[in-house]
Amino acid sequence: IINDDWPGYSLDLFNYPTHYSGDLDCVIIPHGVIMDRTERLARNIMDDLGDHDIVVLCVLKGGYQFCADLVERIKALSRNSNHTIPMRVHFIRLRSYLNDQSTEDLHILGAEDLSFLAGKGIVGTGKTMETLLQHVKAFKPKMIKVAGLLVKRVQHSLASVPDYVGFEIPNRFVVGYALDYNEYFRDLNHICIISESGKKKYKV
Ligand code: HPA
Ligand code: MG
Repeated sequence: IINDDWPGYSLDLFNYPTHYSGDLDCVIIPHGVIMDRTERLARNIMDDLGDHDIVVLCVLKGGYQFCADLVERIKALSRNSNHTIPMRVHFIRLRSYLNDQSTEDLHILGAEDLSFLAGKGIVGTGKTMETLLQHVKAFKPKMIKVAGLLVKRVQHSLASVPDYVGFEIPNRFVVGYALDYNEYFRDLNHICIISESGKKKYKV
């Protein structure tokens, strides 16, 4: 849990692409911490799974890095256990944000036959997740689990919360680790808070 008064780490403490200097306020979750937490989530997922096959549904674009790293960790754990678990990976594309605002229209592209679901990048309003779950349930999978790296604390209580949560964070717009602001900052490893000048610079 990252509290609302957590000021973050100074950018001077970390390495980040120089093309973003001036565009960020602070680092709120360093890349290494994300990786360690992801490893733990992978273990929790493996413990809960039993010997079900896994169909991973990666929610693009913001979820790609988390999904890729989570899948790697699950593979590593599976390799080192005495029963390996077959895993398939599918992709779905969602888009609901313009600038730093959630928009009404949510686009879903490319869902298929699913029996297990993991790998959602971020849960903001929870609207996205709710819509997607309805969509996935229609395929009648045996078990549905949602993994979200970040959950924002928002005023209204979430209708649904992921089964696996990396970090609970303040209700602020974050970028990095594949999360974007108008397609920028996906190439940043740490999860950061964008600065006012960064918002202006990349506004559409
Ligand atoms: N950053 C980037 N994309 C997002 C966010 C965020 O904070 N919330 C929902 N989509
Ligand atoms: Mg986005």
